[in-house]
Amino acid sequence: MAHHMVPALETDNAKTAASLLQERLVGMLDLQLTLKHIHWNVVGPNFIAVHEMLDEHVESVREMTDEIAERIAILGFEPVGTPGYIVKSRDWDDYPINRGGVAEHLNALDSVYDGIIGDHRRAMEAAAEVDAVTEDLFVGQLAKLELYQWFVRSHVANAS
Ligand SMILES: [Fe+2]
Repeated sequence: MAHHMVPALETDNAKTAASLLQERLVGMLDLQLTLKHIHWNVVGPNFIAVHEMLDEHVESVREMTDEIAERIAILGFEPVGTPGYIVKSRDWDDYPINRGGVAEHLNALDSVYDGIIGDHRRAMEAAAEVDAVTEDLFVGQLAKLELYQWFVRSHVANAS
């Protein structure tokens, strides 16, 4: 049951918004760990550019994660961010590469962003039915996530 209600927001709608947010919280916690994992393991040409770019993504994704978790609390529910819960509730496999080249990692990261962005967009569309503030949170985050995926793709793109 909700601990606190946002004025003029129906409980069922708050509950639906909180569950959409919780699902995205798991995704974004997984993403920030995966980004650091790549930051530590990537090698080869353009190492420093990729290594530093990834820390910018980490910093931004951490802020987005915090925003998602706090929105759950604002809606009156309990954000769950423990490692055990992340592993138990995610429906995708662990990132597959340890030490690896820039192209190999960035192609894999491109796939990670495909999953994250697709899930974020579906959550945004579902949030529109129940809570415009949560929808707006996802809109703002999607703009950043899509930008970061473009950065990743641009690193490995072939000019032709
Ligand atoms: Fe570092």
